[in-house]
Amino acid sequence: MERRTNIFRRMSRPQGSTRLADATEGLEHARGLDRTIRVLSTAVRRTLRPGPVKDALHGVPVGHPAHPPLTDVPMGLWMSAAVLDLMPGTRRASQALVAAGLAGAVPTVLTGIADWAAMHREQQRVGLVHAAGMATASTLYSASFMARYQGRDAAGRAFGFAGLTALLAGGYLGGHLAFRQAAGASHADQTAHLVALGWHDLCSTEELPDGWPVHRRLGYIGLFVLRTGDDVHVLTDRCSHLAGPLHQGRVVTDDNADACVICPWHGSTFRVRDGAVVHGPATARQPAFETRVTDEGILQVRPLG
Ligand code: FES
Repeated sequence: MERRTNIFRRMSRPQGSTRLADATEGLEHARGLDRTIRVLSTAVRRTLRPGPVKDALHGVPVGHPAHPPLTDVPMGLWMSAAVLDLMPGTRRASQALVAAGLAGAVPTVLTGIADWAAMHREQQRVGLVHAAGMATASTLYSASFMARYQGRDAAGRAFGFAGLTALLAGGYLGGHLAFRQAAGASHADQTAHLVALGWHDLCSTEELPDGWPVHRRLGYIGLFVLRTGDDVHVLTDRCSHLAGPLHQGRVVTDDNADACVICPWHGSTFRVRDGAVVHGPATARQPAFETRVTDEGILQVRPLG
């Protein structure tokens, strides 16, 4: 008993390098940010209406979130400028890199704002501080560029290194968003790991309403099941964006008269035939199943290859 008590005491004590992660996790619960988040995310949603521009900002056309890879552009350019600032005779090259980083920050900011407005609250709290860090970095690099342009190189370098500090702090929070909070990752169940090969009995077709999605379970995973006449379409139920329940979504038809489901949480739209993303913020296809009906009227499913 004595030994167990000591173990728990050791585990609960913050240890050196984890304190930064603990503080960042604390941001997830910073309710004081919520009023600002409400105002800003409402303004973004009113400005950025559903459509091709919003889809492009999320990264729907490329099938991955657009924001994370775009952050590499200003970060890489500004870090390169910092390295050159430590060397003699690189004044013009550093200035060019700082300017290119500012240009690269524009699409990075726009894609980040679009994604942030469709996150859940804990992600938005961390995302707001991440954005504040990056805005500070951009402001300092703008000051750095102006100073260099006016020939005040020492001030330009000083602003640059201050900007780099803010950039690294904001980047750390971006990493927390991506890897701890899984912003941008697919939240759909991975059927390849969770469903055995072959056909599986799911339910009787008689219990499926026509044109109305229902929820069914297959082993560990929940399924979205939609019967339209003689056709039955099955997708995993947890939305690939942030795990919203697709069976509670609205069924519509797209421009090609294909049936689609709109996620009730942030409006991602998936074609029920194959799970393709029609509109974001989701960028990952919703895992889909092949279906067939036995002579006894039993619906069978297997993951679509
Ligand atoms: S959970 Fe966000 S659109 Fe489905």
